[in-house]
Amino acid sequence: MESTKPAAAWTKNIPADDVITWRRHIHQNPELSFEEEKTSQYVEEVLKSFPNIEIIKPAKTSVIGVLKGSRPGRTVAFRADMDALPMQEETGLPFSSKVKNVMHSCGHDAHTAMLLGTAATLSKMQNQLKGTVYFIFQHAEEQPPGGALDIVNSGALKDVDAFFGMHVLPDFPAGHVGILPHGAASTAQDGFRLTIIGKGSHGSMPHLGIDPIVVGSAIVSALQSIVSRNVEPGEMTVVTIGKFQSGNAFNVIADRAELGASIRTTSDETRKMVEIRIKEIIDNITKAYGATYKLDYTPSYPAIQNDAALNVHARNSAVAILGKDQVFDGPMMTASEDFSYYRKIAPVSFMTLGIGKGAANHNPKFMVDESALQSGVKAQVQIILDYLNK
Ligand code: NI
Repeated sequence: MESTKPAAAWTKNIPADDVITWRRHIHQNPELSFEEEKTSQYVEEVLKSFPNIEIIKPAKTSVIGVLKGSRPGRTVAFRADMDALPMQEETGLPFSSKVKNVMHSCGHDAHTAMLLGTAATLSKMQNQLKGTVYFIFQHAEEQPPGGALDIVNSGALKDVDAFFGMHVLPDFPAGHVGILPHGAASTAQDGFRLTIIGKGSHGSMPHLGIDPIVVGSAIVSALQSIVSRNVEPGEMTVVTIGKFQSGNAFNVIADRAELGASIRTTSDETRKMVEIRIKEIIDNITKAYGATYKLDYTPSYPAIQNDAALNVHARNSAVAILGKDQVFDGPMMTASEDFSYYRKIAPVSFMTLGIGKGAANHNPKFMVDESALQSGVKAQVQIILDYLNK
């Protein structure tokens, strides 16, 4: 039997109107990855207006607020990202971006505002807290190598015992929290650029050339066998050759071909194996045809690996404060996220927050139902409180 519990007393401390104000200010003043100068200054100013918060600046445009409880205990971190994307906003909102061709179309403005709301709420409960909270306002999620890596490498978070993060997601009811699968919760995205160097010739004299189109075609075909023959069935893996350019005339054998690929994997082992197979296939096929090549293999973010116990923790806390009906099992994200790097330090749990029907993330019409923000703050505060008091 479930009873309707009275709302936790601290919920009245959530600065709900301020969260909207902060979000709209950041939305109107978006900044691109690694350029979040004004945003990080703004975040720092707001954090300084709360009691009991110390500021750390682990990288040029990131800010961490540290809240030390009145008693010793564990250390927990919650992360928000702050960067926007290079696109022109088309929402028509009265608080649309004031910066041409820059827009918060992934909701990082909402993430930042919610985490400020969480910090504001918890900063007033310092005397009830056991342990330490890090509020991470991270730069450059959208741009590999990613801001998370800078922060991890700074050493500022080496004492953290658990990391949580939350991403807004359209097409789920506003304010509903999605617990993602444990294990892979997002994909790793890598890629490569390949130049095949053959030998140009007259189209009627193929024996005098080395045709890079034929070599490239053999490579593209062979690469298909990685997913079908090397990866264990059922493990989500994608190898897409999205670019293959060569030649200018129908009767000329070109001297080179340019290929580009996008690769998505969900485990470190498969990620490594796929890279090795790609390199073997390219090396051996070009050799077999007498061509040479230049390969630029570009690793990006690894997959987020959600910790099973932290997922259970996040779910229980979200249910405790929002009710069972507002917590759901979210599907694995096919996108990638540099939140994955925090796992180098401690276990992580990444979740989603529904923001109602609307355009997808990274779309110029992307919008956030602001009623969701209150739920997001509630879930964040409860997750942190429960973690420290366990
Ligand atoms: Ni995002």
